[in-house]
Amino acid sequence: MKRSEEFYEGDHDAVLSTAGRGETMQDILTRRWSRRGMMKSGLATGMVLTLGAPVLKAVAQDDASAANALGFEPIALDEGEDMVVAANHVAVPFLRWGDPIIAGAPEWDIANQTAAAQEQQFGYNCDWIGFLPLPMGSDTSDHGLLVVNHEYTNPELMFAGYLTANPDFGVTPEATPVADATPVAAGATPVATGDPVEIPEFLVNTSQEIVDTELAAHGLSVVEVRRDEAGQWAIVLDSEYNRRITGITPMEVTGPAAGIDLLKTSEDEMGLTVLGTLNNCAGGYTPWGTVLTGEENFQQYFANLAQLPEGDPIRLAHERYGLTEQASDRLWEDFYPRFDVTQEPNEPFRFGWIVEFDPYDPNSTPKKRTALGRNKHEGATSAVAPGGQVAFYTGDDERFDYAYKFVTARAYNPDDRAANVDLLDEGTLYVAIFNDDGSGEWIPLVYGEGPLTEENGFASQGEVLALTRQAADLLGATKMDRPEDFETNPVTGKVYLVCTNNSNRVLDETDAANPRANNFAGHIIEITETDNDHASTTFAWEIFILAGDVADSGTWYGGSDDVSPFAAPDNITFDTVGNIWISTDGMPNNLPGNDGLFVAATEGEERGMSRQFFSTVPGAECSGPEFNPDNSALWASVQHPGEGGTVEEPVTLWPDGAVAPRPTVVLITNDDPTAPVGRMA
Ligand code: FEO
Ligand code: CA
Ligand code: CA
Repeated sequence: MKRSEEFYEGDHDAVLSTAGRGETMQDILTRRWSRRGMMKSGLATGMVLTLGAPVLKAVAQDDASAANALGFEPIALDEGEDMVVAANHVAVPFLRWGDPIIAGAPEWDIANQTAAAQEQQFGYNCDWIGFLPLPMGSDTSDHGLLVVNHEYTNPELMFAGYLTANPDFGVTPEATPVADATPVAAGATPVATGDPVEIPEFLVNTSQEIVDTELAAHGLSVVEVRRDEAGQWAIVLDSEYNRRITGITPMEVTGPAAGIDLLKTSEDEMGLTVLGTLNNCAGGYTPWGTVLTGEENFQQYFANLAQLPEGDPIRLAHERYGLTEQASDRLWEDFYPRFDVTQEPNEPFRFGWIVEFDPYDPNSTPKKRTALGRNKHEGATSAVAPGGQVAFYTGDDERFDYAYKFVTARAYNPDDRAANVDLLDEGTLYVAIFNDDGSGEWIPLVYGEGPLTEENGFASQGEVLALTRQAADLLGATKMDRPEDFETNPVTGKVYLVCTNNSNRVLDETDAANPRANNFAGHIIEITETDNDHASTTFAWEIFILAGDVADSGTWYGGSDDVSPFAAPDNITFDTVGNIWISTDGMPNNLPGNDGLFVAATEGEERGMSRQFFSTVPGAECSGPEFNPDNSALWASVQHPGEGGTVEEPVTLWPDGAVAPRPTVVLITNDDPTAPVGRMA
């Protein structure tokens, strides 16, 4: 295995936060759930983990039980070469990396890739998927725009010969200097310090064309899709909406951090325009029909942090975000100085934001909305508060990092789209504290309030936002087990925070919201905002699912053993009756199965009892599940199939069975293409 997912998803082993809370809140033993003990005790399902605060029930249990009834036979864990979907459903590859999405685009040809071709083709590593109905503002289910994030590239799976064995590996482990000439040793330190040199196993063969193609394969795709009268879905190739946004697309910076010194570079002396968006992981929409995309593991694109002077405040700021200390793995810095922090120390401050753009206007300029803070964002999903303000939930995916919410200052105007255009530039960013008694607080990140002052290194609200993690550290936020997706159930208004895993948490670091040491399998927390008001600054919470093998003590699937076990939950979505659909990223580390898609009721007798619906292929994670409004179509991303292999030594050739694996958006429908997926018709 040459390049694992951990390799690309950032160095999650690094613990980047040493400040903040994270201490034990009560007797450790009371936090160690014994599922079997709870079952023997005969306590009611779900009640054991209700930690004291009142929880609203927006849906009566009986109604929910009936409405949630799943209409499929669960599949078994599957480690096979092909995807598997529940009986009476069909799963087909729908959009593959390299598929033309602009009229006249060249067909995908792995031997003749160019940036110009890639800019007109579907990008690499599809992640979040959004379905936006056409016409805009309708709830049409057979016609719309698919908007897809392309999180990162796997160049070793895109370009033949990208990685070659290093002849020095294992031969002279201590003293061989790194040659100046290409190919270059990725991650190697130039020999100057006298330190022992780490000899990497592989050398990177890159080039200007490869780097430019990788930049073009990042970003997003917008693709018009339509279902015909025969029930067949297809993309509309000549659509005026179809568009690629890439790692070099110009974007505007807006909100409090726009134009602050930290965002200025030699190419952008105003700190207002950035080229590109990178590592777009999860996403979401606004109520006014724009898309939000989260910039996640941006740290990996920037090189040479250790060459800044020790104690340099810029270096310290970047260290909290885990920037690469030496050469980057992709070596983009050899072709573009902006990726070398010794040349452009501020460029990394221009990534790690939530980006908003209007997919209904193909000429719109994406905007980095700094008011929502800077971290390794998963998506940002929205919910309208009773007062009309809009809340945006967003996780910072790092071990021991935090969960956030942004609330707009002004109310959303459903009757005037133009009035909402810059709603995201004014409001309050909050970070979550989960108390052990099941209550919680949203603590505002406001310049001048509490510790967020000049004495602590913040000169303005813009700096509080550019240094969101440092600000949240000072506020004592609760350190979570890698917050990934964070979404609202449209039926109940409850909010679900997915903590994908955290194998670094030790026993005396556990707390009620992160109750397991060595948490390989992850968990899902259910949050009920006070009065179901998404603008509230207090909430109640409880554990919804503690994932993993049901045979392990410490798992919790609503109190049942009769479930499809899963691990490493990553993305979630909800169907129209409030079932939660959970995609996974890390099953093979926990259970004998490829990553897949699982469903559970959120209310009623079957609350928390997961059922597996879909299974992906070797090396892949499942991400981005998305329904159309009537749930007759479900799209899911099969991201990085074959990761761990190379073009020369493939782990899988899915989906084509030839040439190379291709990250692919899969379309899943019922046998009746107008019937709801996964449910009783
Ligand atoms: Fe890109 Fe946190 O998953
Ligand atoms: Ca993710
Ligand atoms: Ca992930």
